[in-house]
Amino acid sequence: MSPYGIRSPHMKLSVPRCSAVAAAFALAGLLASGAPTASAAPAAPVSALAAPDIPLANVKAHLNRLQTIATENGGNRAHGRAGYKASVDYVKAQLDAAGFTTAVQQFSYNGTTGYNLIADWPGGDVNRTVMAGAHLDSVSSGAGINDNGSGSAAVLEAALAVSRAQLQPAKHLRFGWWGAEELGLVGSKHYVNSLPSTERSKLSGYLNFDMIGSPNPGYFVYDDDPVIEQTFKDYFAGLGVPTEIETEGDGRSDHASFKNVGIPVGGLFTGASRTKTSAQAQKWGGTAGQAFDRCYHSSCDSLSNINDTALDRNSDAIAHALWTLSAGTTEPPGELYENTTDVAIPDAGAAVTSTVSVTGRTGNAPAALKVGVDIKHTWRGDVVVDLIAPDGTAYRLKNSSGSDSADNVITTYTVDASSEAANGDWKLRVQDVARYDTGYIDSWKLTF
Ligand code: TRP
Ligand code: ZN
Ligand code: CA
Repeated sequence: MSPYGIRSPHMKLSVPRCSAVAAAFALAGLLASGAPTASAAPAAPVSALAAPDIPLANVKAHLNRLQTIATENGGNRAHGRAGYKASVDYVKAQLDAAGFTTAVQQFSYNGTTGYNLIADWPGGDVNRTVMAGAHLDSVSSGAGINDNGSGSAAVLEAALAVSRAQLQPAKHLRFGWWGAEELGLVGSKHYVNSLPSTERSKLSGYLNFDMIGSPNPGYFVYDDDPVIEQTFKDYFAGLGVPTEIETEGDGRSDHASFKNVGIPVGGLFTGASRTKTSAQAQKWGGTAGQAFDRCYHSSCDSLSNINDTALDRNSDAIAHALWTLSAGTTEPPGELYENTTDVAIPDAGAAVTSTVSVTGRTGNAPAALKVGVDIKHTWRGDVVVDLIAPDGTAYRLKNSSGSDSADNVITTYTVDASSEAANGDWKLRVQDVARYDTGYIDSWKLTF
């Protein structure tokens, strides 16, 4: 039997969501009328449409094209060289033909012009934009097919899959290909710096793909935003492929430019110059004692420097993340999470708790998290109340005060919870510390 009763199984309470559009209207209606959020049983979240399989052959065709571009332009696609601009032109033409709104952003570095390519998929809530990107430049010593033709081609093919599906997600989708990453994340820093803070705050997340087809691959997931990270982990768990946390250089790719201004980030990586251990070879195959990419930053980073299985899996993981994270199952601001199941508070006894599970949000809890408390009690001075964050951190909401003989604690507290991840099990902890009077937690709620 459920420990949470029938009416409100310690779940998020939300507007009914038969579809993202219906949700938007329902929410707008509530806000307009000022009506309280209904206290009916929670609606099941709308499940995102399944992402399509990304055809490996298409991704490889893009890599072929990037290799040819390098070969025809002095062997590389580096910042300031003809092969870089030709790479931008190729990717842009594909996106334009597929219905994206593209823009080339210029910058100057080392006395030469650099280019970022930005592609917006029309539609969706631009106030909640999900962005995926990859650096398109190579080092000057080679064609840069794994680093980072692989990420560039996979993001391109995922974008083309969005177009083929004519996906209309609740959130807005944007894609980016960065210049001069190899010279110090120059293009992505330029892009982020060019965004006014109001535009930055519209980015719900940035997903980075840099080196995702390493010839002796590992399956590494960035340890950054927990929702993005979990989305990737879920995908690989579904394939039965174990993952590890990326540790070969946090801050060594374009996600750092976004992370540094507070945008939630995540991404995938199959390894660069670090050596695969025997434990890793056991779980992933490949060669222990050898680098994940022996051709990292060298002339042999060519078409033959790709593991097709890794490239295929990671391309599909990108599509999965885009479809999942843009679907709008994340609650808009102002959403309520509530538990209305009564919990008895023993007289002068142990603390009791009531749990509210928060799921589907991105990033941290608000700086002004509203905690609505409804405790029935015949002498409220007996009662000590704390909010417990998912990681166990306690926030004191109310101390005891023996002289306060009034009934009940029915009020809303505001807590700075901005250092806490939003998702997880939040608890209201209540203890009665003095004898004779007693009561119960009637309900409580969090407003994000
Ligand atoms: N971005 C690096 C490069 O292009 C490669 C790299 C090293 C990397 N460590 C990483 C990429 C960690 C992503 C994550 O040379
Ligand atoms: Zn590189
Ligand atoms: Ca008491």
